[in-house]
Amino acid sequence: MNTSDFKCKSTINFPNEGEITWESPSNIALIKYWGKKPVQIPTNPSISLTLNDCSTTTKLRFKRADSPKINLSLGGVENTSFLKKIHAFIDRIEPYCPFIKNYSLFIETENTFPHSSGIASSASGFSALALCIVSIEKDLMNYSDDFFFQKASFISRLGSGSACRSLYGPIAVWGNHSCYKNSNDEYAVPFYDAHEIFNNYQDTILIVDKGKKQVSSSVGHQLMNDHPFADSRFKQANQNIEKIKNILIEGNLPAFNELVEKEALSLHAMMMTSNPYFMLFKANTINIINKVWDKRNSSSLPMSITLDAGANVHLLYPEKYKNEITGFIREELIGYCENQQYICDKVGNGPLMKKEHYA
Ligand code: DP6
Repeated sequence: MNTSDFKCKSTINFPNEGEITWESPSNIALIKYWGKKPVQIPTNPSISLTLNDCSTTTKLRFKRADSPKINLSLGGVENTSFLKKIHAFIDRIEPYCPFIKNYSLFIETENTFPHSSGIASSASGFSALALCIVSIEKDLMNYSDDFFFQKASFISRLGSGSACRSLYGPIAVWGNHSCYKNSNDEYAVPFYDAHEIFNNYQDTILIVDKGKKQVSSSVGHQLMNDHPFADSRFKQANQNIEKIKNILIEGNLPAFNELVEKEALSLHAMMMTSNPYFMLFKANTINIINKVWDKRNSSSLPMSITLDAGANVHLLYPEKYKNEITGFIREELIGYCENQQYICDKVGNGPLMKKEHYA
C-alpha cells in the first residue's frame, strides 16, 4: 500500500449531513513506540494489547457549510482546550479526506475511564474520530472492510501514533519489521497468531497519579532525536519485537513477563537519560513494582508490570489467576493507588460502530 492510495479522490455525491458513532478502545504497548520522524513515522516498530473496557465513544455530526466550524464536547461539556489539536488533525488529514473541509463538525466524545485518571485518551479518542470520518466515504468509495480499517488506522496515526494500533484486537503491530507480514510505518496490522491465553489477558491499571504529566509524550518523542542512547534503543526494540512474536505464539509466560518488564523499564530509562532528563515514575510506582516482584518470586503467579508514559502501573496476567491476583491487589497494592483507585480491564476485539445515518 502506498500513501497516495489513502487519498479519497472524489468529493462528489457526498451527503449534506449525517451522524456517525463509533466506540474505540485504548491499548497498552508491550514493545514501546518512543521516538518518531515527521509525520508521525515511528523510529521503531511497536506491538500492543487492545483493551476492552477503556474506550472512547465519539458521535460525529456533520453538516455542509459555507464557512465550516468545529465544535467539541467532552463528557457533555463544551471543550476548547483540545480544539486546537482537532483543528491541526483536520488540516493534516485534508489531503486524504478532502471532503471533511466542506462540513461543520460537531464532535461529542465520552470516555469510559474517569476523565482525570491519568489514562491517556489520545489512542481511543483519535481512533474513534478517524473511524467516524472514514465512515463518511466508505460506502461512496466502495471500500472493503479491510481497506476501511487500514485507512482508519492510517488517519488515526496522523492524530496520535499509538492510536493506529487501537483499530485491531486482540493485538496490533505498527511499524515495519520483516518478522510481521504486511507490517509498515503508515498503519497498524492485526496479529492473530498469539496463543489463546492472550485473548482475554487481564490488565489491571493501578492509578498512582491522576494528574496531568509534567512532560507530554510528544515532547518525549522529540527528545529521542538527539538522545545519546537512541540507536541502541531502536536496535533493542527491533530485537524485542522479533523475540516477542514466538513468545506470544507459544504463550511462554515467564519469557513474556521478562521481556515486557524490560521494555517498560527501557522506556522510562530513555526519559531519565534524555536532555533535558525527566522522570514520570512516582514513589508508589516503584513501591507497586517491588511488591509485584516479591509476590511473583514467592508465589510464582505469572504476572508482569508495564508502564506507558506516566506513573500508573498496568498489571498484566492470564484470566485464570484473576481471583487470586485481585485479592493480592486489594490486600497489598491498593494502598499505593491514589484514592485506592484501580481499573480492571482485559484484552478486547477492537472498535464497534454504534450508529450511522446520512441525509
Ligand atoms: C509510551 O502515541 O501518545 O505510550 O504520537 O505524539 O501522539 P503521539 O504519542 P503517543 O505515544 C505513546 C507512547 C507510549 C508507548 C506506546 O504506546 O507505544
